[in-house]
Amino acid sequence: MTAPSTRPIRKKTGRPRSTADNDPAGAAAGRARPARPAGDDRPRAPIRTRGLTKEYGDLVAVDHLDLEVHAGEIFGLLGQNGAGKTTTILMLLGLAEPTAGQARVVGLDPARHPLEVKRRVGYLPDAVGFYGDMSGRDNLRYTARLNRIPRAEAEPAIDEALEQVGLAARADSPTDTYSRGMLQRLGIADALIKDPDVLILDEPTTAIDPLGVKEILDLLRSLVTERQMAILLSSHLLNQVQSVCDRIGIFAAGRLIGQGTMPELAHRFGDDIAHVEAEFETADEAGAARVREVLAAIPGVVDVAAPSRPDGAWVASVSPVGEETRVRRSILAAAAATGLDLTSVRSVPPSLDDIYRRAVERAAHGHARDVR
Ligand SMILES: Nc1ncnc2c1ncn2[C@@H]1O[C@H](COP(=O)(O)OP(=O)(O)OP(=O)(O)O)[C@@H](O)[C@H]1O
Ligand SMILES: [Mg+2]
Repeated sequence: MTAPSTRPIRKKTGRPRSTADNDPAGAAAGRARPARPAGDDRPRAPIRTRGLTKEYGDLVAVDHLDLEVHAGEIFGLLGQNGAGKTTTILMLLGLAEPTAGQARVVGLDPARHPLEVKRRVGYLPDAVGFYGDMSGRDNLRYTARLNRIPRAEAEPAIDEALEQVGLAARADSPTDTYSRGMLQRLGIADALIKDPDVLILDEPTTAIDPLGVKEILDLLRSLVTERQMAILLSSHLLNQVQSVCDRIGIFAAGRLIGQGTMPELAHRFGDDIAHVEAEFETADEAGAARVREVLAAIPGVVDVAAPSRPDGAWVASVSPVGEETRVRRSILAAAAATGLDLTSVRSVPPSLDDIYRRAVERAAHGHARDVR
């Protein structure tokens, strides 16, 4: 597999597009996205839902969802199996009809203008389907034709997309010889072919190997920073969501039980304890006892945990949150003053794992209305 290209993302090509009546993102008609002047506070949400609801019989798959995804951000929809992620995405694309509420995608109601929305939005479904007897490149050509992209424009766009997802070397093999990860990469290339303003990716990296995941996430980040795309991705892979998403929506049983940046979520769902890790060279038990004593004496440190393995770090719990920097400096000073051999000290950001677990627990205990 070839590594994805690291060269800059191609400029928008200015393909003609029809204009939406209500285009809050200013994204219509294929014009290049101008930089927004300072003080411009118009809404910039190419994806917006209000009270969006989907019921299947008695089951409420998506329950009054209010969501906004802005241009220039990656929004991660996080939730367990059956939480309602795919159902939400299908409604955003006009592939499932809402029971109630509404959605606007690039200013259009997907239930009323599904074809136009599909033309303007790059979509990676949870299960990609390609024509197995055709090559990856020919599948992309087919997509380009469906989207009425002129051949002269499509060919360089296809080359670039194949390179960006690291598939250039296998582009001319039939897709029924592709691995699952290669198909997922081709799915991402397919979503990029129309040079969209909005990318919606349903579990984009589940089949991709760890090195490939990093490359794909870097690609998504560059699409957002260089082209101001709005990207909505769904995932249950907490590490990836934490590493790539600007904002995160935590979804449980069809409800958005919290949304925001990592610090916002940490604040809302945290227990007001931060952590600082410190590593010391300690020769014996007396040394370890001394370390514990020194750490515990630092103001703001409310608990001290010894390393869980011999060369691991001590963990100081700090409260209130926000005191980590001062505690870190105090540890440095205390080590110098007492002659302890400190080898590293750092603040540990709260993990999405902890936040997610706490959010889901709280929702399960009936506090969902308070935290929404
Ligand atoms: N066509 C359908 N008919 C009936 N129930 C459905 C249908 N599609 C989805 N559901 C139900 O709606 C709920 C939400 O499903 P959805 O596929 O949106 O979950 P998800 O968050 O994407 O899960 P996963 O992580 O497994 O992909 C589930 O309980 C599912 O069984
Ligand atoms: Mg799903």
